[in-house]
Amino acid sequence: MGQTKNFFKEKKNWSLIKDKILDYYLIPYIAKIAKTGKPLIIFDCFAGKGKFDSGENGSPLIIAAHIKTAIQRNPFSRNRVKGVFIEKKYFSDLKSNLAGHLNAEVLAGTFEDNLGNILSADTLSNVFFYIDPYGIKSLSFSNFKQIKSKKFFSNEMLMNFNSAGFLREGCRLLPRSDDQLKDIEIDDYEMDDTANSIEKMDAVAGGAYWQDILNDFYNGKIDFYQAEDKFISEYSAKLKDIYLYTVNIPIKVKSSHLPKYRLVFGSNHEDGIILMADNMNKKWKEIVDQQNNGQLPLLDFEFPDLMLSQGFDLKKDILSFVSANISGIPLKSLIVELIEKYGITFSESHYKDTIKQMEKDSYLVIDRYPPKTRKTGKTATSMEYDKYKIIIRKSG
Ligand SMILES: C[S@@+](CC[C@H](N)C(=O)[O-])C[C@H]1O[C@@H](n2cnc3c(N)ncnc32)[C@H](O)[C@@H]1O
Repeated sequence: MGQTKNFFKEKKNWSLIKDKILDYYLIPYIAKIAKTGKPLIIFDCFAGKGKFDSGENGSPLIIAAHIKTAIQRNPFSRNRVKGVFIEKKYFSDLKSNLAGHLNAEVLAGTFEDNLGNILSADTLSNVFFYIDPYGIKSLSFSNFKQIKSKKFFSNEMLMNFNSAGFLREGCRLLPRSDDQLKDIEIDDYEMDDTANSIEKMDAVAGGAYWQDILNDFYNGKIDFYQAEDKFISEYSAKLKDIYLYTVNIPIKVKSSHLPKYRLVFGSNHEDGIILMADNMNKKWKEIVDQQNNGQLPLLDFEFPDLMLSQGFDLKKDILSFVSANISGIPLKSLIVELIEKYGITFSESHYKDTIKQMEKDSYLVIDRYPPKTRKTGKTATSMEYDKYKIIIRKSG
């Protein structure tokens, strides 16, 4: 099983991509949250040492740097933005690596044991959870439900979810596993090797549906790749009990069809999901550019282009989402629906440009309220939903 004991020796490519996504997202996220005028608490629930032995920053130092910048930009946020770092094993390394950082609190112990501390935070706070465990064992669904029931001012989560590892563990716990699994390469990345049970797996998945998926796999109805895909779809659907909007990004190596892990993001705001998908799209493209010009080593990641891998047709999907609403659909909601299907395949501006082109090609009509610009009185052509109410409907 797992290679967890060497995890902090040096940052692996796998950690690099999730850290970069976290790092990149926190910039617009903190700026957006500052506008609420309410405090922000960033919980790094499986924080690690803070720093890798090779000197690279881990998520705690990445988060601490953003807190520092937020305070420098606006000294009033001194008492309003803080990081809470929970770590079971390396809390003393973490404490010393975070020493001197502003508003950084370390809580020793497990995420589960610190749930009470999380729940005791002021409900008027915005909360962001970074969940980066080894494996899946500590991700009991009911904990997320309890957090939801606190009704924080806003609540978002970015989680590293090892869905293939979950199913592999499921195969180990349910009978008839070994034969079918012998040809499947599942990465042992960050799997915790402590004992699991079927009940624990049910608790993590938020139900027993994963067992039906494995039975379909055992009966030859689906292969393991399809099982993983089905499992993450059902898990994401379950997560809708907690977050209205979710998006998951498969992190894959080019040579393998099974995701090494999935980055799962949840938010209760349309703005949150758009911001995350747009940022992840841009960050990924930036990483590819940096690799191409030699600034970054070549990482063997596959950009999660669901249009290519799943054979989706964007224009067709736009038409079908729009047609499902006779009186039209707000532009923002349409983009959210597309993101939930396409993940981070496209930037926000790509969706907008495509919709505009479809209007030009007479497939769609875009209604704006008010229809004229305030400044010039000319017909509005804006796609900015913060300035106009924008409704997309089918033409004809
Ligand atoms: C994948 S590492 C986190 C890496 C970190 N995000 C970074 O970027 O450096 C997972 C960490 O969670 C800790 N851990 C394991 N089980 C835990 C639990 N139940 N609660 C809190 N921390 C736990 C491990 O000791 C390990 O440091």
